[in-house]
Amino acid sequence: MTKTAELHIDGNVYELPILEGSEGEKAIDISKLRAQTGHITLDVGFKNTGSTKSSITFLDGEKGILRHRGYTIEDLCEKADFLEVAYMLIYGEFPDAETYEKFKYTITHHTLVHEDMRKIFDGFPSTAHPMGVLSSLVTSLTAFYPESLDPTTSPEGVDLTIERLLAKLPTIAAWSYKNEMGHPVNYPNNQLDYVSNFLYMMFGFRTENYEVNPVVRDALNKLLILHADHEQNCSAATVRVVGSSQASLYASVSAGINALWGRLHGGANQAVIEMLENIKKDGGDVEKYLAKAKDKDDPFRLMGFGHRVYKNFDPRARIIKKSCDDVLESLGIKDPTLEIAKKLEEAALKDDYFVERKLFPNVDFYSGIIYRAIGIPTEMFTVMFAMGRLPGWIAQWKEMREEGQPIGRPRQLYVGENERKLEK
Ligand code: CMC
Repeated sequence: MTKTAELHIDGNVYELPILEGSEGEKAIDISKLRAQTGHITLDVGFKNTGSTKSSITFLDGEKGILRHRGYTIEDLCEKADFLEVAYMLIYGEFPDAETYEKFKYTITHHTLVHEDMRKIFDGFPSTAHPMGVLSSLVTSLTAFYPESLDPTTSPEGVDLTIERLLAKLPTIAAWSYKNEMGHPVNYPNNQLDYVSNFLYMMFGFRTENYEVNPVVRDALNKLLILHADHEQNCSAATVRVVGSSQASLYASVSAGINALWGRLHGGANQAVIEMLENIKKDGGDVEKYLAKAKDKDDPFRLMGFGHRVYKNFDPRARIIKKSCDDVLESLGIKDPTLEIAKKLEEAALKDDYFVERKLFPNVDFYSGIIYRAIGIPTEMFTVMFAMGRLPGWIAQWKEMREEGQPIGRPRQLYVGENERKLEK
């Protein structure tokens, strides 16, 4: 029997169905609320609003659980390759050996980007932030593959659009770095796997025999998996809303990239390193910066701390912190910002302000230190996040399309002027 919640308004009682998710999460279904009662709900920032049912990712913020299609993030990081996680997120199950070989082959053989895209790319000044270049070039894919504009096309057509995007994003991402450096681009090398190929396009030069360091490859593989999906976050919600108007996958993901760019979302990884560098330059006094973060008159926030959903710990941050120590040790790197980060974390976790508000290090707190250790420049950090998040965005977009969800269109509570005359 469906459980219901009762809503009392002006002496009338309305029954609202209560739905239960597969992990026991409960939701009050208000989809008919306005039609029945004339009221809408108000939830600025969607803090309590479920925008969809989804079977991709489960997250328990109190217990610090993150699972994709039932698999824990710990297991996935330990045992899987990023590309098979991508397949599993998008298609629901891990591929069998034959399917995976075929998938890898297809992705590898779509990594080249149309030469005409170079003209667009060459138009960017070297001051362009790589995230801006990335989102622009992802949108421009619509020009080269106009058949992608209609997402209601055949499932095979959608699959090809997905494969092209997965294949080309690392190429475009590496190019955006090359642009910033003023270097010539490296074309993809089809002998290499997905992650190694990206490293090659970033750091390999055609005149040298570039060898991918396995420590670096493994670290990057793990980081990409850790970012692969995170249910209805700001960028995934953006991808779904944009896609709900039947915009193409490329346009929807480009919008997601722009949503990710902000400092409160994926842009936090760049902001963390900049913050740690500032603290270092300023003498390394972490208490001073904790005081700034607590001061309501100071706009400073502790970047890489706090999360809308995690209120205990972020399981991704735990994995990254451990990986950070391992990678720096294997590469023989001593990074003073790691010491500052650890001191900052230790001090914050003892501080009442952070304890009361349940503010813990999030995925972005330590990731930048690893990126830096493996040679990724600071402005590319959020691009790395985007590369990792791509399968999640695609999976969210595909699920939304397949469920035939209606166009995303929230309501509002108007609090402006009432009708008035234009006196002229
Ligand atoms: N430093 C200082 N105070 C903070 C911080 C922080 N990093 N985060 C939250 N607070 C305070 C906030 O001022 C508020 O205090 P009060 O109740 O006194 O007004 C309280 O904690 C609740 O914060 P909120 O802003 O209402 O929480 P939210 O769920 O709207 O925001 C957040 C979540 C992640 C945007 C926020 O914690 C933040 O700005 N963190 C820093 C940026 C960051 O690291 N972002 C990456 C998030 S994880 C990866 C991703 O999603 O991309």
